[in-house]
Amino acid sequence: MKRALNASLQHLNSFSVAARAGQLLELESEQDLQVFMTEHDFDPERDLILGGGSNILFAGDVEGTVVLNHVHGKRIVADSENEVLVDVCGGENWHQLVLWSLQQGLSGIENLSLIPGLVGAAPMQNIGAYGVELADVIVSVQALELASGRRRSFGHDDCQFGYRDSRFKSVDAGRFLITRIRLRLQRIFTAELNYAGVGEELRAMGVKDPTAKQVSAAIVRLRRRKLPDPQVTGNAGSFFKNPVVDRAVAAQLAKDFEGLPVYATDHQAAKLSAAWMIEQCGWKGHRQGDAGVARQHALVLVNHGHASGQQILELADAIGDSVRSRYGIELQPEPRIVR
Ligand code: FAD
Ligand code: EPU
Repeated sequence: MKRALNASLQHLNSFSVAARAGQLLELESEQDLQVFMTEHDFDPERDLILGGGSNILFAGDVEGTVVLNHVHGKRIVADSENEVLVDVCGGENWHQLVLWSLQQGLSGIENLSLIPGLVGAAPMQNIGAYGVELADVIVSVQALELASGRRRSFGHDDCQFGYRDSRFKSVDAGRFLITRIRLRLQRIFTAELNYAGVGEELRAMGVKDPTAKQVSAAIVRLRRRKLPDPQVTGNAGSFFKNPVVDRAVAAQLAKDFEGLPVYATDHQAAKLSAAWMIEQCGWKGHRQGDAGVARQHALVLVNHGHASGQQILELADAIGDSVRSRYGIELQPEPRIVR
């Protein structure tokens, strides 16, 4: 276990904002996990579990301990004619897992290519992109209950997955350290190409009947074009969730604001495009100091260099105010905000 006091978190968050932790603990093995659980009295008000830092905004320091879960490992635990169950430790890199699965001839997560971060964080907000969510392939989540040290196992239906949501992000926020997930992947590939732009990208690549690897390549191309690379310009992907509203509200807004993209979801709800509303309010490409809105995508807030987390938060608040006053819609941030 690696330990550092008064540690910088700047290189550990994709916004690259300056912040410090009272203590930084890096867990690299099952044994480290056990030592950590017996020695450390985790307090969610003071301490924090951190993965790749790609869905978090540090608007303040962490007084207590930041725990990095870097425990690696993955293995196939069941292999039938088509379905394959894979167990993956929380410290594995998500995109590397996608590439590995494709090399094994397995499909199911190719549409989730190039999402930054680690496997342990993937269930937190039920990562999703291009028509697929983690909830479509996940079987179970293994976790440690931080208060008691007990091992807990959650089946798919226990996780309360929703759009950018799960019990781990909502009712049980701060209670568990996710150690491992089990995925159900397929040997027989069925392409999911319904999301706008995926089919066009494949056509532009000259591909008619795509393999899973080709779908992954198309998604990577799309994402590289649409989203700023955090290695170049600090960001955490979408800063706000797409608002989910009653269908009648969505229908009225679509009437009042021509062109507003509305996507039907389950039940009586509909999802609105936050990016569109933010762009219409004039924010796309806006910059105040080093905090800004990406030129490529209105939903992505960026750090052009030396913005503080607080400055990014102030910009987010101003965007939220203008969307509220124009559309009557309350935007919810997607990343975890540490104040
Ligand atoms: P972190 O930022 O380290 O942590 C996020 C939250 O999870 C925090 O609350 C943290 O405390 C908690 N956490 C982390 N690890 C654990 C653990 N092992 N146990 C318990 N709690 C834990 N997301 C999408 O869903 N779809 C996208 O298409 C997408 N695109 C993105 C594009 C870019 C350029 C960027 C920068 C981000 C994007 N994201 C996207 C957001 C982000 O990549 C995902 O949410 C990712 O799962 C976060 O992983 P992480 O390891 O970086 O989590
Ligand atoms: N749009 C604009 N202006 C922009 C960008 C987009 O008006 O600057 C409009 C366009 O009409 C476009 C629509 O918004 O058709 C949707 O845009 P996009 O396909 O980029 O999707 P999104 O709703 O903005 C969501 C996720 C992304 C995910 C993509 C692809 C959320 C909050 N964001 O973005 O996830 O990669 O779909 O599935 O749901 C993330 O969570 O960090 C993230 C990047």
